[in-house]
Amino acid sequence: MIPKIKWLLLILCFAFFQTANSQTKDAAYMEKHRPQIHFSPKKGWMNDPNGMVFFNDKYHLFYQYNPDSTVWGPMHWGHAVSTDLVHWEELTIALYPDALGTIFSGSAVIDKNNTAGFGANTMVAIYTSHSHAMEKDGFEKVETQSIAYSLDEGITWIKYKGNPVLPNSGIRDFRDPKVSWYEPTKKWIMALATMDHITFYSSPDLKNWTEESKFGKNIGAHGGVWECPDIFPLQHEGKQVWVLMVNINPGGPNGGSATQYFTGGFDGHTFTPDDTEIKWIDYGPDDYAGITWSNTGNRKVFIGWMSNWAYANIVPTVNWRSANTVVRELAIEKAGDKYLVSSAPIKEIDVLKATSYDAKNVKAKNINITTKTGKLNGPAILKLTADELKEFNITISNNTGEKVAFGYDKTANQYFIDRSQSGNVNFVKDFGNKIVAPRFSANKNTDITLVIDVASVEVFADKGLSVLTAIFFPTSDYTDITISSKDGFVIKTLNLSHLTSAWK
Ligand code: FRU
Repeated sequence: MIPKIKWLLLILCFAFFQTANSQTKDAAYMEKHRPQIHFSPKKGWMNDPNGMVFFNDKYHLFYQYNPDSTVWGPMHWGHAVSTDLVHWEELTIALYPDALGTIFSGSAVIDKNNTAGFGANTMVAIYTSHSHAMEKDGFEKVETQSIAYSLDEGITWIKYKGNPVLPNSGIRDFRDPKVSWYEPTKKWIMALATMDHITFYSSPDLKNWTEESKFGKNIGAHGGVWECPDIFPLQHEGKQVWVLMVNINPGGPNGGSATQYFTGGFDGHTFTPDDTEIKWIDYGPDDYAGITWSNTGNRKVFIGWMSNWAYANIVPTVNWRSANTVVRELAIEKAGDKYLVSSAPIKEIDVLKATSYDAKNVKAKNINITTKTGKLNGPAILKLTADELKEFNITISNNTGEKVAFGYDKTANQYFIDRSQSGNVNFVKDFGNKIVAPRFSANKNTDITLVIDVASVEVFADKGLSVLTAIFFPTSDYTDITISSKDGFVIKTLNLSHLTSAWK
C-alpha cells in the first residue's frame, strides 16, 4: 500500500513539474507587448543585429546584448539561429567582453579559402572592441577592431591572439566593421564607420588591413554620428548596382536614428555614388542599425533593430527590451532616372499564415474590415491593391479607443503614420509626432502591405519603395482594422492573413 502511494506521489510531482515547465516556456514569450513574429531576446537588453551569416542551412543572427539588465550596458554578442528567417532559437551568448573591451557591433564571414589560417570554412567574426576603461581615462582611441573564430557553427569562439587587428587611427568613433569578400581583387573589404564618414580597408587574410579610401564627409545626412555601414551589390536588369548603407544617430528623417543609403559603383578600392541625394531605407523611427546577411549569394536579406536611440532604453516592456524588424529582401528599382532600394518582407513569412480572408472590388469609404475577416488576435498581414490612389486611412484600434493610423496624403504626396493615440505614448516626449515618408512611385495605383504585430506596424508601400516602421504600446491589444477614405475608392484586391506566433 505505502509503496503504491509513494509511486502515485512521484507521478503527481513529475506531472506538476512538467506542466510548470511548459507553462514557463510558453509564458516567456507571452508578456505584454512581446512581439510574436519578430525576434526578441527572452530576457535582457538587445540593440543592433550583428554578424549575420548563412552557413550549413542555418541563418545566424548575433546581436548587441546585455544579459543582466534591460538597459544598454556591457555589450556581448547574443546568438540566435533559424532555418527559415521566421522561427528563431536563442542560443548561448557567443562573445563576452575581454581585456580589450566590450563587444560592439560587427559582422561575420565564412572563410571558404582559409585565408586567415583558422581552417577552411571557418566562421570568423569581425567586431569592435570598445574599452570603457580607456574611455574613463579620457583616452580618444577607445575603439579598435578585433576578430574571433568559431569551429562549431558559432556556438563557441576563440579570440585571435593578435587582436586588435585594426588599431585606432585617432578617431573617437571608429567602429562597426562590415566585411565581405571582393572576388576581382581576391581580398576582404571592410567598411568601417569613422565618425562622419566611411573608411574602406582591404585585407588578404582578415588580420592585416590596409586603408583604401574614405567616403562621405560632405555627402549625405550628417545630423549625427555615422554607424553600422554595409556595402553590397544588387543586380538590376543585368546591371550591377552597389549599395552603401550608413546608419546615423541622431538625424533620421523623423527624428533619432535611421538608415540612409547611397547607390553607386565600387571597384574594390573606392565607392562612387550615383548622386548625392539623401535617401533612407525606412522612413519610420523604428528601423535602425540594419545590415544584410553574408553568404547568401545574390539574394540580399536585411534585418534592423526595431527601436530608436531616442527612447530605446525606456520603452515600457518589463523582462526584455527591443525586437528586430521582420527580415526583408532588398532589391533595386528604378524611379525616373534614379536607382532606389526597395524592401519587402521575405516570402518565408507566409509559413505563419493561419487563416486568410480575400475580397475583390471592395468599395472603401468607411469600412471595418475585421467584421468580415475576424478580429485581430495577434499578428497579421494586410495587403491592398487598387487601380487608383486616393487619400486613405487604415486604422488599427482596440475597444478603448487607442489606435494607430497609416495613410496617404495626396497634397503632400506622402505616406504617414500617426501613433499619437496609440496607447502609452507619454514615456518620452515626441513619441506621438506624425511620421512621414515621401512617395517615390509615379504609378497611378495603390499597393500596400502592412505587417502588424502586437507592438509594431511595418508599412511597405509601392512594393517597398516607401517603407515606414513604428512601434507602439497599447494598453490592450488591437483588435480592429478600419479603412476610410474621404473620396472613397475601390480596393481591387484585399487580403488579410492572421498569423500564428513564431514562438509556438
Ligand atoms: C549603433 C551602435 C553601434 C555600436 C553599438 C553599441 O546602435 O551605437 O555604433 O557598435 O550600437 O552597442
